[in-house]
Amino acid sequence: MKILMFGATGMVGQGVLRECLLDDRITEIVSVVRSTSGQQSSKLSEIVLPDLAGIEAVADRFSGFDACFFCLGISSVGMSEADYTRITYDLTLAVANVLAPLNSKMTFIYVTGAGTSRDSRQMWSRVKARTEDALAALPFKATYFFRPGFIQPLHGVVSKTRWYMTAYAVIRPFSSVLVRRFPGIATTTARLGQAMINAAADGYSKPVLESADINIASGM
Ligand SMILES: NC(=O)c1ccc[n+]([C@@H]2O[C@H](COP(=O)([O-])OP(=O)(O)OC[C@H]3O[C@@H](n4cnc5c(N)ncnc54)[C@H](OP(=O)(O)O)[C@@H]3O)[C@@H](O)[C@H]2O)c1
Repeated sequence: MKILMFGATGMVGQGVLRECLLDDRITEIVSVVRSTSGQQSSKLSEIVLPDLAGIEAVADRFSGFDACFFCLGISSVGMSEADYTRITYDLTLAVANVLAPLNSKMTFIYVTGAGTSRDSRQMWSRVKARTEDALAALPFKATYFFRPGFIQPLHGVVSKTRWYMTAYAVIRPFSSVLVRRFPGIATTTARLGQAMINAAADGYSKPVLESADINIASGM
């Protein structure tokens, strides 16, 4: 499979990229980044795009992919709804609207979060839900929404969001137990990556994957 990735420098994306690099089903990964990551692999190439809003101008570079793993996202902490919407909804749809007409065989996987709901009292949740709805209306071969809760970072993966880094450092001693005991709310970066690859290769029985589904789909 030929995979297109967004957000590969983030916590979720680093974990997903690692699994992609190790998995023989994936022959090529193109990662879209704001600045070059320095990561080297014969399977990996990068497209440097400092502002994703300008993706339409380079649309000719985005055809022929089997799947897109969209791991790009930000925390809503301290953000206005307008600013959070600009990154979460506007940027995601700017990318997806370019990809859909060029990639009829593409499986599009979008990482949202546990508790995403149109009727939520939480702003981030409503914005993510609107983003999911808009993505579901696009003509991809398949679209999956991954809604992880707690994610244990494995294999040296680190978050780019400061408060996540602090929270994970505090939880670290308990995180393996959390994943083992509560697979309904917790997963790992490795399982997320494997679940994405498996969903892209073989599909999954439903479009929304909560933590329990992610763990099942990962086969780990
Ligand atoms: N971490 C968790 O525990 C967790 C749990 C549930 C759901 N999620 C969801 O998973 C997604 C990824 O989270 P994460 O923890 O991996 O975040 P992260 O570590 O903060 O990484 C964010 C990623 O998004 C990219 N990015 C952010 N703003 C961008 C912009 N304006 N233009 C282009 N790229 C941009 C960053 O690229 P740069 O390297 O260029 O900054 C980075 O690759 C989010 O939607 C989050 O809500 C995370």
